[in-house]
Amino acid sequence: MKEKHPGSLFITMTNANTKTTAVIPAGGSGRRMQSSEAKQYLLLQGTPLLVHTLRIFQESPVIGDIVLVVPVNDVSMIQSDIVDAFAMTKIRQVVAGGKERQDSVRNGLAVLPADCEIVIIHDAARPFVSPALIEKAVDGAVQEGAVAVGVRVKDTVKKCDGEGRVMDTLDREQIWMAQTPQAFRRATIVAAHQKAREDNFYGTDDAVLVERMGIPVRMIDGIPDNIKITTTEDLAWAECRLSARKL
Ligand code: CTP
Ligand code: MG
Repeated sequence: MKEKHPGSLFITMTNANTKTTAVIPAGGSGRRMQSSEAKQYLLLQGTPLLVHTLRIFQESPVIGDIVLVVPVNDVSMIQSDIVDAFAMTKIRQVVAGGKERQDSVRNGLAVLPADCEIVIIHDAARPFVSPALIEKAVDGAVQEGAVAVGVRVKDTVKKCDGEGRVMDTLDREQIWMAQTPQAFRRATIVAAHQKAREDNFYGTDDAVLVERMGIPVRMIDGIPDNIKITTTEDLAWAECRLSARKL
């Protein structure tokens, strides 16, 4: 195959031969949800939100194994009530998370299997990721090294000061909203997290840690449904979305 952009058969074969580990951060407390239980355990159609997300990775043919990061006090409960109870056979390890999401992801990266080449990181709180999006992200990382899924903005974007006075109107053709999954070559994301720790730098996603090392990150088109369940309104939307699927 001499083409610069090989056909889909080639891409599938690349995936099949590349060992990919998913790191799923589920170590937060869900403060903005204002419920007594952490939001990743709340039930959606009778099943914990976290399980909806994990199932998609469990069933994806491009995922070799999963590292699940959970709140420090929940490790053994998750092992029995989630991993064993829902037969999540690809979860090779449940590890304790840290104070910030970035600390949790770093703890997950610390236990990657020796043969892992590609790491795909995805928020437990985004249960509407699709199998196709996971494959697209993994393919992107194999070919480009670092990719983040995102959506292009539709509204006009204004940059404002603290009082809401407009300072600038940004070129919306250039603005994306970053989501997860984000996928990387293993060495790239491990080095980026290590450097961020050395510099005591905290970012709001994993891609920014790679960007600050001067390594290019490619955005790939996601799906608008792939929202992060953050508030009670999001949870109600998710219930509607899942019941509509059954019709
Ligand atoms: N997360 C994590 N470790 C943390 C904080 C967050 O693993 N210390 C995870 C969450 O469980 C979630 C994902 O990172 O799956 C995205 O974070 P977010 O939606 O902000 O969840 P929370 O931090 O739990 O929610 P909030 O910010 O409202 O407290
Ligand atoms: Mg948070």
